[in-house]
Amino acid sequence: MLFSMANKGHYCLFLLLVTFSLCVYHSEQLQSSHTQTLLRIQQLLNFPSSLSNWNNSTDFCNTDSNSSFTVVCYEDTITQLHIIGQRKNPTPLPKNFSIDSFVTTLAKLSTLKVLTLVSLGIWGPLPGKIARLSSLEIVNMSSNHLYGSIPMELSSLTNLQTLILDENMFSDQLPIWIDLLSALTVLSLKHNLFNGSLPNSLGSLENLRILSLSHNRLYGVVPDLSHLRNLQVLELDGNAFGPLFPKLGNKLVTLVLRDNKFRSGIPDEMSSYYQLERFDISSNTFVGPFQPALLSLPSIGYLNISQNKLTGMLFENLSCNSKLEVVDLSSNLLTGSLPKCLVSNSSDRIRTVLYGRNCLETMNQNQQPPPFCHTEALAVGILPDTKKHKKQVSKVVLTLGIVGGALGGVALLLLILFIVRRGNGRSKMKNPPTRLISENAASGYTSKLLSDARYISQTKKFGALGLPNYRSLSLEEIEAATNNFDTASLMGEDSYGEMYKGQLKNGSFVVIRCIKMKKRYSTQNFMHHMELISKLRHRHLVSALGHCFECSLEDSSVSKIFLVFEYIPNGTLRSWTSDGHTGKSLNWTQRIGASIGVAKGIQFLHTGIVPGVYSNNIKIEDVLLDHSLVAKITSYNLPLLSNIGKVRHGNSSKHSGINKSGKHEDKCDIYDFGVILLELILGRTIKTTNDAEAFKDLLQASLGADEDARRSIVDQAIRKACLDQSLKTMMEICVRCLIKEPAERPSIEDVLWNLQFAAQVQDAWRGDSQSSEGSPGSPLDPQRMSFH
Ligand SMILES: *[C@@H]1O[C@H](CO)[C@@H](O)[C@H](O)[C@H]1NC(C)=O
Ligand SMILES: *[C@@H]1O[C@H](CO)[C@@H](O)[C@H](O)[C@H]1NC(C)=O
Ligand SMILES: *[C@@H]1O[C@H](CO)[C@@H](O)[C@H](O)[C@H]1NC(C)=O
Ligand SMILES: *[C@@H]1O[C@H](CO)[C@@H](O)[C@H](O)[C@H]1NC(C)=O
Ligand SMILES: *[C@@H]1O[C@H](CO)[C@@H](O)[C@H](O)[C@H]1NC(C)=O
Ligand SMILES: *[C@@H]1O[C@H](CO)[C@@H](O)[C@H](O)[C@H]1NC(C)=O
Ligand SMILES: *[C@@H]1O[C@H](CO)[C@@H](O)[C@H](O)[C@H]1NC(C)=O
Ligand SMILES: *[C@@H]1O[C@H](CO)[C@@H](O)[C@H](O)[C@H]1NC(C)=O
Ligand SMILES: *[C@@H]1O[C@H](CO)[C@@H](O)[C@H](O)[C@H]1NC(C)=O
Repeated sequence: MLFSMANKGHYCLFLLLVTFSLCVYHSEQLQSSHTQTLLRIQQLLNFPSSLSNWNNSTDFCNTDSNSSFTVVCYEDTITQLHIIGQRKNPTPLPKNFSIDSFVTTLAKLSTLKVLTLVSLGIWGPLPGKIARLSSLEIVNMSSNHLYGSIPMELSSLTNLQTLILDENMFSDQLPIWIDLLSALTVLSLKHNLFNGSLPNSLGSLENLRILSLSHNRLYGVVPDLSHLRNLQVLELDGNAFGPLFPKLGNKLVTLVLRDNKFRSGIPDEMSSYYQLERFDISSNTFVGPFQPALLSLPSIGYLNISQNKLTGMLFENLSCNSKLEVVDLSSNLLTGSLPKCLVSNSSDRIRTVLYGRNCLETMNQNQQPPPFCHTEALAVGILPDTKKHKKQVSKVVLTLGIVGGALGGVALLLLILFIVRRGNGRSKMKNPPTRLISENAASGYTSKLLSDARYISQTKKFGALGLPNYRSLSLEEIEAATNNFDTASLMGEDSYGEMYKGQLKNGSFVVIRCIKMKKRYSTQNFMHHMELISKLRHRHLVSALGHCFECSLEDSSVSKIFLVFEYIPNGTLRSWTSDGHTGKSLNWTQRIGASIGVAKGIQFLHTGIVPGVYSNNIKIEDVLLDHSLVAKITSYNLPLLSNIGKVRHGNSSKHSGINKSGKHEDKCDIYDFGVILLELILGRTIKTTNDAEAFKDLLQASLGADEDARRSIVDQAIRKACLDQSLKTMMEICVRCLIKEPAERPSIEDVLWNLQFAAQVQDAWRGDSQSSEGSPGSPLDPQRMSFH
């Protein structure tokens, strides 16, 4: 106890020294050529204030990142560079700026995967040699003064997933070779001067999720995009596209056609766009009937059809989706009465409802007299819908006979479809298939970008994980691995299905979870889940290696899903405490190490993918240790299970789904983590919340007592070898995790900080006095000084 007796000043100094030496020892020193390149970039950019304190001795890989500057290194190379100027509307760099030397310099950072150069005043035509950065995956060069066309050389960037060049002055047509960038998921070219019509090759970028071409000078018919099965966001506003409504796949979440030259009807299929959240076709000349079914699409939240020539009669009894927040029907040719569900006090959720300058039977919002809509509709060849459908059709035919023209033909078709739908379609709308809703892709615009970026920043660490790439397996492989589902391979069973231990052809052991489907879905419906699961890979998670669908022969719907996980050999964390009855026990340092692992796993679940995975209900049995005693969380809240869970048996507590907006959603996991800490410190099994409460109080009381009292309550196996300061830190953070009021529990970052502090104190002391306690397989992360 020599050390703990030392006076506080010395102790702090000592800690500082230890901390310092750890820092130096573990920091990744950047190749000096890269450092020189960064300094040159600083110079070429005319020393922007966001880089003001760079100099010869800056350790770029270990500077604190902030909103205007971030470097991410992998070993001694740079993989991500983000420089963001402060100027919202940057003034161009001085006359002697040369984009050519700038890009030549930049190209020396040949390992770059992610590049953000925003609001820096960079001007000039983008040189083709930027393609020398052949590993680029994400590029955002918005808000500069780049002009000219997109250089052909870019087509060689086959890894490019995200290309964002918003708010520049690029001109010319969109390159016809764009389909060579086959990995592209995000293409955003808003606010430029692109002109001409869109190349048809755009329609073969199969991975595209976001296509944003708003505010350019593009025109003409939009090419057929119906094969872009992943397309979720299409923004074409502020151009001159038209006249036909684009052909699209029905997975869209956002569709913005505002302010173009469309002059057709709204296709009937729109009412099957179950994932559509934002629909804006305002400021065009859309004609024909407005389908009231659009108001009740299951995901719709924003609907703007204003400033068109849409017709039709609305009824008081129409239904609306409860998520609708903005409805703008103004300046059309609508008649009838305003649906009750749109009257603002009938539902709290509806915030904005505009319907002025129609011919509705209401005194509000400046309505036109009914004849106005009538004559206007006649002028564009369409009659307003009335209650007497049959009579109507003949009237329309008559009118069309007079007006004629291709446009009239389209309108007639739409009107007939509309009438047929009103007969049998409405009831269909009331109960949209659940599967399509539950499959609703959660990615908003930026969140997807974020998740792409995070995915990459995580992948750089996978090398160290030693995991093979995620892949899909064949049923034959699964059968071979489990010896045709031999009962000897069966490890257990839960409400979703069995779990097998297996061995793949390459010799590696795996755990195979079999999930039986009660309902019939096609494989397509699971792709989004599989994608999420494939991203849930982390040193402290039992990670998925792949999946396999078993499909039924009759209708090829999925009957089972096999999820293949890494096999973790060393038992549960509980089995390594005194209460585990296995005779094995972790020492104090190892327990802190394991808890740091669990906390990092939780942190990754919350922030590693978007949306985060919360409410994981992690118990000490859900933490497994691998051969070098690294803690890994298993049975976290798999995105797939949460959705099947909902379908099958409501909101079970274990798998309550990805919680997007709940308050303090992250704090449930903090509480569960507190319980695990409690068990690690006390070496006791905690079965109920009451137990947890009681032991928390005990810990709290012992914090005020003397050291001997504290020691007397902890697990026998660690009683002697833990430093009091370290023990106290762990007890304190444990008590805080278990606070009843979720908002008062610490954040996961706070938890991690404290655990790492406890580890350092213990480590420093151990190195000083009792080196025998360290085990070669210490699970302490050697890089624990670096926070990510
Ligand atoms: C541009 O000119 C300024 C002075 O006007 C000078 O400080 C700067 O170094 C020059 N930049 C380059 C890239 O030559
Ligand atoms: C961000 O960090 C860079 C480099 O460390 C520094 O030069 C800059 O002033 C910082 N900016 C802000 C807004 O904190
Ligand atoms: C580099 O910058 C740091 C912080 O801005 C400063 O403390 C240091 O003295 C500078 N070194 C040189 C060699 O200019
Ligand atoms: C940076 O260091 C090099 C040698 O290491 C030296 O030649 C150069 O003058 C230094 N530059 C600055 C700006 O301190
Ligand atoms: C590009 O980067 C800037 C700065 O980080 C960000 O504000 C902007 O949203 C990014 N663009 C897109 C389309 O995400
Ligand atoms: C597009 O703009 C460029 C330059 O601004 C012009 O030369 C070209 O003719 C335009 N192309 C079309 C199809 O309008
Ligand atoms: C609907 O679109 C019009 C025209 O594009 C716009 O002026 C209006 O503000 C939008 N309405 C709402 C509520 O956003
Ligand atoms: C709604 O009201 C109209 C007329 O007011 C009526 O014809 C129609 O059947 C009603 N629809 C439903 C679903 O009640
Ligand atoms: C809206 O509120 C007014 C009075 O506040 C009430 O008379 C009216 O019935 C309400 N409308 C609906 C649809 O609830």
